[in-house]
Parts: sequence; C-alpha cells; structure tokens
Amino acid sequence: ERCVVAVDGPSGSGKSTVSRRLATLIDGIYLDTGAMYRAITWAVLQSGADLADPEAILKVAQEVDLSIGTDPKAPHFEANGTDVDAAIRGPEVTGAVSAVAAVPQVRAMLVQIQQDIIAGAPRIVVEGRDIASVVAPDADLKVYLTASAAARAARRSAEDATDVKATEADLARRDKLDSSRKTDPLKQASDATELDTTGMGIDDVVTRLLEMLNS
Ligand code: CDP
Repeated sequence: ERCVVAVDGPSGSGKSTVSRRLATLIDGIYLDTGAMYRAITWAVLQSGADLADPEAILKVAQEVDLSIGTDPKAPHFEANGTDVDAAIRGPEVTGAVSAVAAVPQVRAMLVQIQQDIIAGAPRIVVEGRDIASVVAPDADLKVYLTASAAARAARRSAEDATDVKATEADLARRDKLDSSRKTDPLKQASDATELDTTGMGIDDVVTRLLEMLNS
C-alpha cells in the first residue's frame, strides 16, 4: 500500500541518516529536498548570478538540468551533467543556500517537482523543512526531528570534520535565515509529531518512527 513519510527538522537533527535508513526499511525511495535547494545553489554560484537578485536566481533555477537521485542507499545528484554530490555539501553552497531557498518562485518550482516525485512513488520518505506543511500535507506519518543546538553542531561537525564552535554558529545563522521567511518552513506543521533526538542513536530514532508508522 502507499506510504508517504514526511521528515522535517533543522540542520543536524539527524534527518538525512534517519530518512535514508527508514526508506530502505520500508522498501521505498528517498527524497532529499535540501539537496535540491543545494544543487540549484551550486548552479547559481557557477553562473555568477548575483545572490541578491531573485530574478537572476530564478532564471538559473528554471534553466538548470537537475538529475535527482532517490536511491536511499546512494542518492546521487547531477546539475547540468556534473556530479555535484560533494560540491553541494561544501561551504560555498552552504553559505548561499538560504538566499536561494528564500526566493518564493524557486520554492514553488521545487515543490511542484517534489510533489510529482511523491505522486509517482508508492513508498517514499521525504526530508526537508516544509514537507509536512507544504509539500506533502497528506503524508501518512509526519515527524519533526529536533535536538539541542550543541548536539546538532556536534553531529554536523563529526560528519564534515569542521570545528564544532564554527558549525554551531553556522547552524544558528542558517536557522535564523530559514525561519525569518514569511512562510516559515522551520515551523513545525501543527499535526507533526515532534521527536527530540538529543542523546538518541540513529537506531533508536528509526525504531521509534517504525513504531509510529505501524501504530
Ligand atoms: O541539513 P542541513 O540543514 O545542512 O541542510 P539541508 O536539509 O541540506 O537544507 C539546506 C538548506 O536548504 C536549508 O538551510 C534551507 O535554507 C533550505 N531548504 C528549504 O528551504 N526547504 C527544504 N524543504 C529543504 C531545504
């Protein structure tokens, strides 16, 4: 039967690892919407477009040829034929992605693509910031993962080997930018179940979600 799981939460909340694991376990596909915003951002940076010019950003977004990988074991992205898996996690893209994600027409465009992918997939785990509220309001399970700022920074810096203090500052910066938008995607959809993962291991979180899905 159909199964759509929406996983929202801020950076370092464990969304990606948990979502991929869960997608594999339910024999579904995995959609990383953050990677979509990041891939568009990569193309914007490549183009030299002005990050302060929403129209220039939108033009790049409309023209980029995006290949979106949905295999939970190896979600591979390409933009204009270039493998961007590493580049979209780099500091340049991370520093610019909030500006790109703040352009309403870019969001509308990506939400449409996301909804088409969901419509074509019987079983899917979708992770992002606005999944339960905007992208998949009819999801079978909606969770909002949180963790303390310190725990989130520790996880993220363990992933990318950056300084934990600098990471904590960067996450705080992005949280603030992401939540100052008019429709705040970090705002938890009213009917999502919040799960504070501070001190929880990946397996604990995945087990909880499976229980929620089966109850
Ligand atoms: O996990 P992390 O916060 O580093 O980032 P991500 O999930 O890869 O998302 C990167 C950025 O994309 C976020 O900071 C948001 O600005 C934006 N984003 C968004 O606006 N809406 C989404 N559904 C997903 C990401």
